[in-house]
Amino acid sequence: MELKDQALIVTGGASGIGRAACLALAEKGANLIVADFNLDGAEAVAKEVGALTQDRGGKAFAYKVDVSKAEEVEALVEFAVEKLGTLNGMFNNAGIGLVKPFLEMDPASYLKVIEVDQHSVYYGLYYGARKMVALGAKGAFVNTASIYGSIAARGSFNYNAAKAAVVSMSRSGALELAEYGIRVVGVAPGFIDTPILGDDPAAKAPLAAQHMHNRLIQPEKVASVVAFLFSDAASAINGSTVAVDDGFLS
Ligand code: NAI
Repeated sequence: MELKDQALIVTGGASGIGRAACLALAEKGANLIVADFNLDGAEAVAKEVGALTQDRGGKAFAYKVDVSKAEEVEALVEFAVEKLGTLNGMFNNAGIGLVKPFLEMDPASYLKVIEVDQHSVYYGLYYGARKMVALGAKGAFVNTASIYGSIAARGSFNYNAAKAAVVSMSRSGALELAEYGIRVVGVAPGFIDTPILGDDPAAKAPLAAQHMHNRLIQPEKVASVVAFLFSDAASAINGSTVAVDDGFLS
């Protein structure tokens, strides 16, 4: 078990990529905090993880957090150490989109996405790394960026800015934290079949067509890469953002 007894936090763990990551990380032996704004969803995932890891006594606890609030992320880190005994990293993954043409991208719409998708990653790295260093714990952070951190999408001025910052923070976080035995990497998904894409098949078809295999990517395909990135097998991957985009950017 490559992640045996690792204590990890997954934000946005109630749904989509975060849920799939919880299952993949638990399968490799990690104990988890399933953190989300949606507590019912987080509890359901914690239960799923519990059932999956029953044999080895795996642990998973749900926690309600708004990742755009510094003090709530700080409290999440405290909760993790209280429940799991230590902290070996975070999957900073919770995120939202809010699509508007640029001329309607008022400051509130811009800042909402910056706060949830960008500031949350800084808070996770800051409070998480400070706690790990204080405990002498080693590990890794994986941050969810996007293909749209590298290229522009129409109506996504806010999202493009936030995800580009996530790519940058993964790089500079890695540089600052390497001396403490902490790696920081990003993952940049293409179009993943999760609720964030909505439920209109006609809207999803052109997204799928951007991929080399002309289909949406299942969240489990991102989750398996995330689990690999947390493992020692990825110890030479640091500061980079790994695309899981079925060739979209190629
Ligand atoms: P999702 O909508 O299935 O899951 C997002 C989760 O984040 C939800 O459970 C939601 O409750 C939670 N969340 C939202 N705001 C929050 C907040 N302020 N505090 C705590 N939790 C909050 O979407 P998905 O696709 O799993 O998204 C996960 C990440 O992947 C996001 O950062 C998203 O931007 C990114 N991403 C998704 C892509 C896709 O095509 N689905 C493509 C590229 C990136």
